Amino acid sequence: MGELRGTHVPVLLERCLELLAPALGRGGRTIHVDATLGLGGHAEAVLEAHPQTVLIGLDRDTEALAHARVRLARFADRIHLEHAVYDELPDVLDRLGYPGIDGILFDLGVSSLQLDAPDRGFAYAQDAPLDMRMDQTRGVTAEEVVNTYGHPELARVLRVYGEEKFAGRIASAIIRERERARITSSARLAELVRESIPAPARRTGGHPAKRTFQALRIEVNRELAALETALPAALDTLNVGGRMVVLSYHSLEDRLTKAALADRVRSKGPVDLPVELPGTGPTFRLLSRGAELPGEREVAANPRAASVRLRAAERIDPDAEQQGRTDRERSRRRVKAMNQPGTGSVGSVGDRRAPGDGRGTDEEGEGT
Ligand SMILES: C[S@@+](CC[C@H](N)C(=O)[O-])C[C@H]1O[C@@H](n2cnc3c(N)ncnc32)[C@H](O)[C@@H]1O
Repeated sequence: MGELRGTHVPVLLERCLELLAPALGRGGRTIHVDATLGLGGHAEAVLEAHPQTVLIGLDRDTEALAHARVRLARFADRIHLEHAVYDELPDVLDRLGYPGIDGILFDLGVSSLQLDAPDRGFAYAQDAPLDMRMDQTRGVTAEEVVNTYGHPELARVLRVYGEEKFAGRIASAIIRERERARITSSARLAELVRESIPAPARRTGGHPAKRTFQALRIEVNRELAALETALPAALDTLNVGGRMVVLSYHSLEDRLTKAALADRVRSKGPVDLPVELPGTGPTFRLLSRGAELPGEREVAANPRAASVRLRAAERIDPDAEQQGRTDRERSRRRVKAMNQPGTGSVGSVGDRRAPGDGRGTDEEGEGT
């Protein structure tokens, strides 16, 4: 294992720390989960900023865990590093005896360790065996996918996970080639993809093999299925006031994140009722307006940040929110009643409280 420290710049680090700080720095011991520990860049900064925080770091890649363990050695008395897929988080928390957590970060996708490793097969720019498993201890490799899937299945993977317009042509080329000889190297696959794409299209949208490699990586690691299960489970484990930050690198990840958050920030009560029924109010509030993009300086300093989309949310107490909404509704009804002709409201309690009591307009933005 070589020395990797410093070769990886954590994406949107300052923003992640800023968003997590109110949850992790609220006094006493707090629990933070880094669901995608990687080389431990974000985790190290969290542990430095919050001396009372215990870190649970997950990664499905044993090599990444080994590097992170060295990097985080000085925090050994308050870290648990676990070889796990992030949808296994509830089991990990059970086993470690932590019923709730205060912060969680998902920094999705591949690490620089995986991309730059000459033997892992993630990069179309380097020739390597077609592996692409983040967890090299289990699962099928990209070589098996490329050499065994039928045409419709291959084309679907490339179209859906790679958003590849020429998915059918690439799948046909793969099948023709493998009838001649098994496809075993990333360079051969990259070349096949390049040859299958019409010349004018090769000149746009980056390297022609980029989308195919992304699609195969997602398929090999079942990335979207794991994320779809992991996000709601992670939201469930957060204590009130706890915060989740997600960094996505392609639209499929971001769409799943958006959907998981949307489900928690909206009311599930009947739309025509003026007040929330118990248990139907939002359980989270969004901390980001839409998806936050990186600034120009961030991208210049760290090209891997170019495609990042950040979303974040905080768990709220639905009962406290419910009380706030009920008070607001009562106040609105009082104001409305006072403005009815002939109500003779001068000097009433409502008159003193309603206009300019500083609550109405602030509260209009609540819950978003
Ligand atoms: C972009 S890197 C994280 C980098 C990290 N934030 C840092 O600062 O070093 C993503 C990591 O998540 C891991 N990973 C991806 N999908 C995972 C999953 N479903 N479960 C657990 N780890 C996963 C990868 O193995 C990789 O090491």
